[in-house]
Amino acid sequence: MKVNLFPNSNPATDAERTEKIAAGGFGKYYTDNMVIAEWSEADGWKDADLTAYGPISLDPATMVFHYGQEIFEGMKAYSQPDGSISLFRPDANAKRFARSAARIALPEMPVDFFIQTVEALVKQERNWVPTKVGESLYIRPFMIASEVGLGVRPSNKAIYLLIATPASAYFNAANAVTVWISTEFVRAAQGGTGEAKCGGNYAASLVAQKQAATQGCDQVVWLDAVERRWVEEMGGMNLYFVKGSGKDAVVMTPKLTGTLLPGITRDSILSVAGDLGYKVEETMISIDDWRDGVASGEITEIFACGTAAVVSAVGAAKSTHGTWTTGDGTPGPITKQIRETLLGIQHGLIEDKHGWNVKVC
Ligand code: PLP
Ligand code: COI
Repeated sequence: MKVNLFPNSNPATDAERTEKIAAGGFGKYYTDNMVIAEWSEADGWKDADLTAYGPISLDPATMVFHYGQEIFEGMKAYSQPDGSISLFRPDANAKRFARSAARIALPEMPVDFFIQTVEALVKQERNWVPTKVGESLYIRPFMIASEVGLGVRPSNKAIYLLIATPASAYFNAANAVTVWISTEFVRAAQGGTGEAKCGGNYAASLVAQKQAATQGCDQVVWLDAVERRWVEEMGGMNLYFVKGSGKDAVVMTPKLTGTLLPGITRDSILSVAGDLGYKVEETMISIDDWRDGVASGEITEIFACGTAAVVSAVGAAKSTHGTWTTGDGTPGPITKQIRETLLGIQHGLIEDKHGWNVKVC
């Protein structure tokens, strides 16, 4: 399989592109091109095409519109000090995309083909990659069920698409995010789709996100489906808790029980925090541990992490169990150190001793 190049013959001018990159934010503007590849049960994957970004036309009876058979990924290309561009752990996204596909009965895309499509788009759009630390080109691979029909069965056709958008901060790094701990709704249960990055998980989360906004909160924190007390993750991020301070601090994250999305940032921070000399734990953390730990001062910092959000401090937490704030409600020293170290590695400013960066061009 290969990527055929039919790039946009009418791309943004330098001035238009500069303006769009400077607008920052997340998902405001898209680059000039996209990649599209089709799969069918009969013929497998066809070559991908890199073509001008634009609308796609689908029959109203296309299965994805009815039964939500869709998966996606989120990854970033980072500008390096020598002017080159690198991806961060693209193999991890490719493998998770294949696992998500398997769970949703979509075709698994070969890891090499997935990476080839991402590299082709990044090479084509290299001028769209912002150069400041903390800014990057966010890449969104996704796949939809494209068979036309209303029968409820796995689609025998699929379309893979890849789009990119210049991104700055998802949240303002100077502020802590406020969270609403949902005890009414659940994100995932054992045997469900919590480990998969499928659109349906996000659709099901939005009513709780709305509730969070009503409560004056930025994000939802999900608890386990059975006891409604074990902290799992947030709407689009994993969570970390810091116990103690200085070199004796313990950096903890909820264990992957089968219902959490196994975040690539989460996994990277397990190594980064260890490299910085902290004790690292994957464990079970309850809502009581959170509230009591904050009250006693044992829990000193909390942060959320993900590709889009990078590392963002969590300040006030609200729920039907009460309201409490970690530390003084501003990003703590270990949160800042981990954020800066991770961004430093991604931008080639700190030694990449785990070999995570893959140079594209
Ligand atoms: N949890 C959820 C529900 C997410 O959507 C994301 C974002 O991708 C994450 C966690 C963090 O994953 P990653 O670090 O791979 O971006
Ligand atoms: C990401 O961090 O890539 C995500 O997918 C989170 C959110 C924007 C859905």
